[in-house]
Amino acid sequence: MSEATIESVSHEHRVFPPTEEFSKRALIGTREEYEALYRRSIEDPEGFWAEQAQALHWFTPPQKTVEWKAPFSKWFVGGTTNLAYNCLDRHLDGPHRNKAAIIWEGEPGDIRVLTYFQLWREVCRFANALTDLGIEAGDRVGIYMGMVPEAAIAMLACARIGAVHSVVFGGFASDAVRDRMIDAEAKAVITQDGTYRRGSVVPLKEQVDKAVDQCPNVEHVVVLRRTGNEITMKEGRDHDWAALMETASPKHEAPALDAEHPLFILYTSGSTGKPKGVMHTTGGYMVGTYLTSKYVFDLQEDDTYWCTADVGWITGHSYIVYGPLANAATAVMYEGAPNSPDPGRFWSIVERHGVTIFYTAPTAVRAFVKWGDDWITKHDLSSLRLLGTVGEPINPEVWVWYRETVGGGRCPIVDTYWQTETGSIVMTPLPGAVPAKPGSCSVPFFGISAKVLREDGSEAAPNEGGLLVIDKPWPSMLRTVWGDDERFREQYFSRFDGIYFTGDGARRDEDGFFWVVGRIDDVVNVSGHRLGTAEIESSLVAHDDVAEAAVVGIPDELTGQALVAFVTLKGDREPSPELNQALMDHVAGDIGKFARPKRIRFADAVPKTRSGKIMRRLLRDLAAGKQAHGDMTTLEDISVLATLQEHQEE
Ligand code: WTA
Repeated sequence: MSEATIESVSHEHRVFPPTEEFSKRALIGTREEYEALYRRSIEDPEGFWAEQAQALHWFTPPQKTVEWKAPFSKWFVGGTTNLAYNCLDRHLDGPHRNKAAIIWEGEPGDIRVLTYFQLWREVCRFANALTDLGIEAGDRVGIYMGMVPEAAIAMLACARIGAVHSVVFGGFASDAVRDRMIDAEAKAVITQDGTYRRGSVVPLKEQVDKAVDQCPNVEHVVVLRRTGNEITMKEGRDHDWAALMETASPKHEAPALDAEHPLFILYTSGSTGKPKGVMHTTGGYMVGTYLTSKYVFDLQEDDTYWCTADVGWITGHSYIVYGPLANAATAVMYEGAPNSPDPGRFWSIVERHGVTIFYTAPTAVRAFVKWGDDWITKHDLSSLRLLGTVGEPINPEVWVWYRETVGGGRCPIVDTYWQTETGSIVMTPLPGAVPAKPGSCSVPFFGISAKVLREDGSEAAPNEGGLLVIDKPWPSMLRTVWGDDERFREQYFSRFDGIYFTGDGARRDEDGFFWVVGRIDDVVNVSGHRLGTAEIESSLVAHDDVAEAAVVGIPDELTGQALVAFVTLKGDREPSPELNQALMDHVAGDIGKFARPKRIRFADAVPKTRSGKIMRRLLRDLAAGKQAHGDMTTLEDISVLATLQEHQEE
C-alpha cells in the first residue's frame, strides 16, 4: 500500500435489500434496470442527457448536449428555457393545477397550503414587483429569510426573470450577509422583519440594516412582515412586500433564458476558509435536480415529501424548491426548530400531514437518538415509506436506528452523497433497485463517473482508501466560483489536472459501493496508519451509551499523531472513568490497538457548522491544548466551543 492511501478499518457488512413491496411500485425496481441505465449514461452521456432533458420544457431545443474544456463546461448549448416555468406554468394545464405544491407549517402552528396555481400566481406577481423595482436579468439579488413560502416565491421569481439569487442562511449574522452581498454585488436584498426560532423572534431586518449600510450596490430592500416585531424602514430603499404585491400585476410571461444563464450563487465554506460563491446555471441544474428528485426519492403522484433542510443551503435549493416542484410533487416546508415546543415536533408534522418521504441530515438523526425513542414512538409514522440522509457520513449504528425506529423497519434509506458544488445528488442507492449498506452512499447516480484515486492519479484497489473524484462533467456541476475562475480551477481541478476533486476521502468496496471516510483535511496519521475520521467515530457511536463522536489527531512524539475523541452521550447516560476506559477498550477491540484514543473528552455538544457538520478543525486546536483559532463565522453555537474551552484542564 502506498504511503498516501487511507487505510480502512471498518468491518460493516450488513446489507439491506429493498423490500419486494417497495420495488414493485418503484420507478426503477430492479438492479438490472439501474445498471443498464447507468451504463448507457456513461457510454453515451450526450444521448442520455439529451433524452432526459426532453422531459422538461425548452423554448428553443438545445443544439449540443455538452461542451467540455476542463474545468469549464456548458450544457444544453443553444437551448433556451426557464426554470420557474418548468416548476410552475408547465403544471397548470392538467391535473396538477390544483395539487398542493407547498404545505407549510409555521413554528407557532399556523398552516398554509399553496397549490401549483396559487404558487404560480404569487411568483408571477413577485416577478413583476422585482421588475418594477428595476431588477433585470443578470442582476444579483440577496435573499435572507426564514423558512416561509415567500422564500421559495422569491427564489422562483428571481429565476423567472433571470435575476441571480444568492440565498444567505437566516442563522448567519450581519457580517456574513454583508460579505456575501458585497462579493456578489447584489442590487437588492429580500428579507423579513423576523423569523421564529424556538419560540423567540430572530430579527432578520435588523441584521440586513447593519449589513446593507456597508453595501454600496444594494439599492432596494424588500421586507416581508412575518413576526410583527418593530423595524425601521428606510425611505426610498426599503419596500413592504405586501404593498409591492398589491400593485404588481399577476400576469407575467416567463422569458426564454439561455441554458447557461446564471441561476444562483450560493456561498459555501466547507469547514474551512473564506466563503466561495459557487455558481450554478439554468439548464444543467434544472435537468440534474429534476432527474435526481424523481428517481432518488421515487416520487409518485400521491407522495407527501418533506426535506427538513433550510433554503439557505444547497439541499433546500435543490430538494425543497427546484427538484420537487419541477416534478409537480407536494413538498412540506417547516419554519422552526425540531424541538419546538418539544422534541416530538417533526414526528407530529409527519403524522398530521401524512408525510411519505422524509429527508434529513445525520446531525438531526443523532439528535433524535439523544432525545430518546419515546418522542418518536408516541406518533403514528405509518405513512412513511422512504427515508433519506445528506450532509455527512452516517454512522452505521445510527443508520440502523433510523431504519428501525423512524422507518419501522420497512422504509429504505437513501444515503445521498453530494455537495453544494455538484448541484444535485451524485451518489446514492436507488431505493427500489440498489441494496443499502449502512454507512455507504452506495453507487453513482446516472452520468456520474466517480472514482477513488491514489495521490499519483492511479485508481485505488477495492477497499483501498484514496481521493474521491468525478472524472467526467455532469449537467448540474458548478460552473465557476463567482468572479474567480482561477480559484475555481485551483480549488477543484488542480489536484488532478482536469478532474474534479471533491475534497473527500473514500474507498470503493468489492461490490463497487462507495464509503466516504471523511474530509481529506481531517485524515489522521497514527503510527503510519492514515485513518479517515468517519470509521473511528462510527466505532464509538456503535457503543450503546454514545450518541455522537468527533475524532481528531494531536501531535504525538511516539506515534506521529494520536487520537483524541470528543464524545457526547445519550440522554440519560453519565460520564465516568469506567466508561472512559470502556470506550477506549471498545475501539481497540473493534478496530485495533493502534486506534485506541489517547484521550476521550466527554462533552454535552461538539462544535458544528450552521448546516450541522462537525467542525474538527476547531476540535484539533482544543485537543492540542490550544485556544481554537481561525474563521468562526460558520460556527453554529459559539457557546459550545466556549464550554469546551473552559473545561480544557479538567
Ligand atoms: C459531506 C451538502 C458522506 C461531504 C449536500 C461533502 C457526505 C460535503 C454526504 C458537502 C454523505 C455530504 N455521506 N459525506 N451522504 N453528503 N457529505 O456542500 O464531505 O453542504 O463534501 O452539501 O458534505 O457539503 P455541502
